[in-house]
Amino acid sequence: MKNTWLILFSLGLFGWASCSRSTDAPTPEPQPEQLEMPIPTYFPKMVYNLSSNPVTYDGFQLGRSLFYDGILSRNGTIACGTCHQQAVAFTHHGHDLSHGIDDKIGMRNAPPIQNMAWEKTFFWDGGVHDLDLFPIAPIENPVEMDEKLPNVLQKLRDSKNPDYPQLFKKAFGTTEITTERFTKALSQFMVFLVSNNSRYDLYLRGTTNALTATEKEGLAIFRQKCGTCHEGELFTDQSFRNNGLSIARSTDEGRFRITQNPEDRYKFKVPSLRNVGYTSPYMHDGRFATLEQVLDHYAQNVKQTPNLDPLLQQNNQLGISLTSEEKQKIIAFLRTLSDEQFVKDYRFADPGFGKAF
Ligand code: HEC
Ligand code: HEC
Repeated sequence: MKNTWLILFSLGLFGWASCSRSTDAPTPEPQPEQLEMPIPTYFPKMVYNLSSNPVTYDGFQLGRSLFYDGILSRNGTIACGTCHQQAVAFTHHGHDLSHGIDDKIGMRNAPPIQNMAWEKTFFWDGGVHDLDLFPIAPIENPVEMDEKLPNVLQKLRDSKNPDYPQLFKKAFGTTEITTERFTKALSQFMVFLVSNNSRYDLYLRGTTNALTATEKEGLAIFRQKCGTCHEGELFTDQSFRNNGLSIARSTDEGRFRITQNPEDRYKFKVPSLRNVGYTSPYMHDGRFATLEQVLDHYAQNVKQTPNLDPLLQQNNQLGISLTSEEKQKIIAFLRTLSDEQFVKDYRFADPGFGKAF
């Protein structure tokens, strides 16, 4: 079975569904149409095991319906898409800390959902490793969706509009709704959310004038002063680090919550900076509203706190030395990471508004 999927997936990559086959070859059994996953050559190696859950058109559409459906929450009011809004790269616009059911306030800022197939761990503290296990966390979180997974599955079985049993049948060949099929459908939607069409991507793909001279200078300064942590084309080395935020009013100990290792206190996952022009406010608690404030933090507000990253305390100096001109250039560069196509792609929109592709 596993091998069959593997072969189907590889065939799918080459546009199996649409290419012509020689007439005397045996007709394969009809299979759900595979979607060709965009895999930019300059991205690192993919982490998600696509062969265990190949993205199909119907699986993606089911995942998309689920993502935007309040049925996943206790009282029907909160969808994944409430806190992960496409127009702002699937973050929660205007909220430093996310707001969930009954307007309860969560602990952290909602990160963008993009390029998930390349992420090794999820959450600011890396508390979840497997995207297919992820949805249980927000569904059962009392300040997010406050529902029990078995109840969600039962509501889906009883649902007529949309007719979820039929949508599961299209996606997985059976009307039977299980936890595994439910989470795999959501994963299919999420892994397909690939952002790789910013101006910076055009530049990487060879359009040298896609960036202005100032933006290119910003890129060079960024690589030199920020690029160790915000490394590579996803702008993260996926490690956990303390970047010197003030902990004066903070009770969130980050990675320590997961490992209980004192050396992890106040460390958070280095976030990707793709679409950072859309995803304000910034940091795990959304404490900064603007990129100017972020740059001011690195230049003059880094605090000596437990486990502060060695990169931010070199030569007996806290922070990163930056002139105001350098800050402006870095910001100009960061804005080239905005992928307008991604935030407007109708395939990713609430199916209430967008048509299937
Ligand atoms: C009430 C707002 C809210 C709802 C509803 C919500 N999320 Fe989130 N989401 C968040 C917050 C806040 C975080 C970061 C939490 C943390 O790091 O502790 C997050 C993190 C994530 C991440 C990890 C991203 C990363 O880069 O680490 C994924 C994936 C995700 N959510 C998917 C979903 C899915 C799927 C649903 C629906 C089943 C959902 N979310 C519902 C607020 C929400
Ligand atoms: C020592 C590693 C390190 C260096 C160097 C570093 N960062 Fe960060 N950066 C982090 C970590 C860790 C976070 C998340 C911290 C948190 O939320 O608690 C972060 C968060 C950010 C964010 C917020 C993103 C979001 O989605 O909330 C921006 C923007 C950012 N950094 C830009 C920069 C820039 C620009 C530079 C260079 C001037 C830089 N960083 C240098 C580790 C680093």
